[in-house]
Formats: sequence, C-alpha cells, structure tokens
Amino acid sequence: MANPTAYLPLVVIGRGGHARVIADTARACGQSVAVFLDDDFAAAPSGLHVEGPVRALIPKYIGTHRFAVGIGDHRFRRAFAELVLAQDGELATMIHPSAIIASDVTIGAGSVVLAGAIIGTGARIGRFTIVNTGASVDHDCTLEDNVQIGPGATLAGTVVCRRDAFVCSGATVIPKIEIGAGAIVAAGATVIKNVTAQTMVAGCPAMEKKTLRAHAD
Ligand SMILES: CC(C)(COP(=O)(O)OP(=O)(O)OC[C@H]1O[C@@H](n2cnc3c(N)ncnc32)[C@H](O)[C@@H]1OP(=O)(O)O)[C@@H](O)C(=O)NCCC(=O)NCCS
Repeated sequence: MANPTAYLPLVVIGRGGHARVIADTARACGQSVAVFLDDDFAAAPSGLHVEGPVRALIPKYIGTHRFAVGIGDHRFRRAFAELVLAQDGELATMIHPSAIIASDVTIGAGSVVLAGAIIGTGARIGRFTIVNTGASVDHDCTLEDNVQIGPGATLAGTVVCRRDAFVCSGATVIPKIEIGAGAIVAAGATVIKNVTAQTMVAGCPAMEKKTLRAHAD
C-alpha cells in the first residue's frame, strides 16, 4: 500500500505522549509537522510548538494543512476527528515505514499504523483507528471506526473489534472472536470468548470485570 502522507504539512491535535508518537510517525513518513493544537497550550513543554484552544484554531488550518488526532482517549479522538471532517478538513492516514501491511488491507481516514505493527491479508481497518507499536492484526480481522489496538497486542485471524473498542497492551485475542463496541480488553488478557459491548475484561482467560458507561456521540 502506498503511504499517502507526503502532502500538506500536518497539524497534530493533542500534545501528550500519543501526539508526540504521531508526530514522530509523520516525520518518519516524510511529512512535516507544523504545529500541535491543545486546549492546555499555555502549559506546553519547551521545544513543542503548541497553539490553542483546539476548536477555535481548527478553521485556521483547514485547506492548507492536514490533521492527525494524537489523542488515545477514544471519546476525544472521535470528537476531534469528526470536527475536522465536518469542516471539510483532511485527516492524515499514516503508516510507519517499519510496519508490515498486506497489499489488500484497507485503512480508513485518520487511522495510524505505528512502528513495527503487522496487518495481515484481508484485514479491514476503519477510520480514526490506532494500531499501536508492535501490534499484530492477523488475516481477515475487522477493526471498525475509532478502535485502538495497544502496543504489542495480538489479534489472531478473523477477529472483529466493534467501534470504540480498546485492546490494551500485550493482550491476545484468539481467532473469530468479537470484541463489542466500546469494550476494553485489559493489558495482558487472553480473550477466548466474545466480549460484550461496553464491558471491561481482564485476565487469562479474560473474564468480565466491570460494565463501562456508554458515551453519547
Ligand atoms: C484495562 C485498564 C484500562 C482498566 O483500568 P481501570 O478502568 O482503571 O480498571 P480498575 O482499576 O477499575 O480495575 C478493575 C478490576 O480489573 C482488574 N484489572 C485491571 N487491569 C487489569 C489487568 N491488566 N490485568 C488483570 N486485571 C486487571 C483490577 O485489578 C480490578 O480488579 P478487582 O475488581 O478484582 O479489584 C487498565 O488496567 C489497563 O490495562 N491499562 C493498559 C492501557 C494500555 O495498554 N495503554 C496503552 C496506550 S499506549
């Protein structure tokens, strides 16, 4: 898959750890980073060019820049991505050069595949989704919009992650499992049966730990 990044300079929304990873990924793709946008712009660490507040400044960069949402929390990630699209802004889709992606994989707008991640043949990746550092998404998996697969997590073949799901660092999901919308698989869990929407599961084998509050869109 061609890396579609080398166009307009990038605006990164957010200024935390994930935002800096996104900026680093952009630079590795040959993409220049113009500015970070954050509501907490006054407290930005030195060396980072941060402006804010976010909502007020997005229109300033529409048409001349592309946007990447560097926020791990799925509620803010979705909200800002949809705000950019609603103003006809362009979301960058980024694939780190060290990632390995099968040629037939489809990846939606605003999604990022970070360093060392692997995505197998037949996989479909939605919008605003993060396949984090060293994660493995095997053949024929489906990640709907705004999913996050954490660093080093492993999805075996034909796993489905519904929208807003988060598979945390180092978790493993066996083949053909469905992770429900908004569900969280805790770090290190081994998932061997379907996970109900808006629940958090943990452990080996993964068991339900709590119900999560659904968020209105
Ligand atoms: C899943 C996670 C987000 C849950 O956080 P939380 O909502 O604050 O969870 P809580 O602290 O309320 O824990 C609820 C229960 O689950 C257990 N639990 C939480 N995480 C667990 C884990 N990774 N493995 C096993 N049990 C876990 C807690 O011990 C607690 O059990 P108890 O009710 O029997 O006491 C967090 O534990 C986690 O795994 N974070 C990793 C995030 C990550 O990978 N980020 C990568 C970004 S780069």
